[in-house]
Amino acid sequence: SRLSHIFGDDGHTVMLAFDHGYIMGPTAGLERLDLVIPQLMEYADCLMATRGALRTCIPPNHHKAICLRSTTDTSVLKEDLSHGVLGVDIEDALRLNASAMAIQCFVGADGELGSLENLSRAVDAGERYGMPILGVTAVGKEMERTTRYFGLASRLLAELGAHFIKTYYCENFEQVTAGCPVPIVIAGGKKIPELDALKMAYRAINEGAAGVDMGRNVLQAEKPKAMLQAIRMVVHEGLTPEKAYAAYEKL
Ligand code: 5RP
Repeated sequence: SRLSHIFGDDGHTVMLAFDHGYIMGPTAGLERLDLVIPQLMEYADCLMATRGALRTCIPPNHHKAICLRSTTDTSVLKEDLSHGVLGVDIEDALRLNASAMAIQCFVGADGELGSLENLSRAVDAGERYGMPILGVTAVGKEMERTTRYFGLASRLLAELGAHFIKTYYCENFEQVTAGCPVPIVIAGGKKIPELDALKMAYRAINEGAAGVDMGRNVLQAEKPKAMLQAIRMVVHEGLTPEKAYAAYEKL
């Protein structure tokens, strides 16, 4: 039931990520979540946020799925971000009506084992209460962004019990999706030109992703609301990136 709140009837999802503040503080486009997110949220299937942002910035009368950021990771002031802990009780996730809890994992980093333990404990709690767990393959400064890395990290988190995975788009992405037995959504990453972001979303879906979970490529776009609508066109309607971009320009 909770997963079906995130994924539409077509099995695809457009998630809007605005959880950056928990490690980055106020970031461009995300300084005033209380003003920005309410204007955008009708175009997202799922909101990915911390509980602090949900409580303070999101009107409670919405019907969107929530993917609750549930690890407490170290801030960007630290060199090594990989030593996070499980930061939210599952009871609070239930109280917030979350549809999933997101756990950040640092495969290959110093804190790998601790982050995988966070995932395992979250999956155990999730299984008890019927709460899906999103395994997020974080890329620390040291980690390479290759097909082999994302394929390994995604498969590993799925084998440890994550119900769906968030990872980055890469070359030969179909090998990553083929090797992962649960749905994958892609992260957007740093801001790139709007058409390129739409191309990335299009390729990801055509290469087996179930959706996108973008933040900065929406929130730092010239027209965030139009960008989120254009992403929907690609993910849910199968529009080519060029057609979606043409629509973006007119919106
Ligand atoms: C980091 C995350 C963040 O939610 C995500 O990276 C934010 O989205 P974007 O990269 O598209 O700005 O999961 O691991």
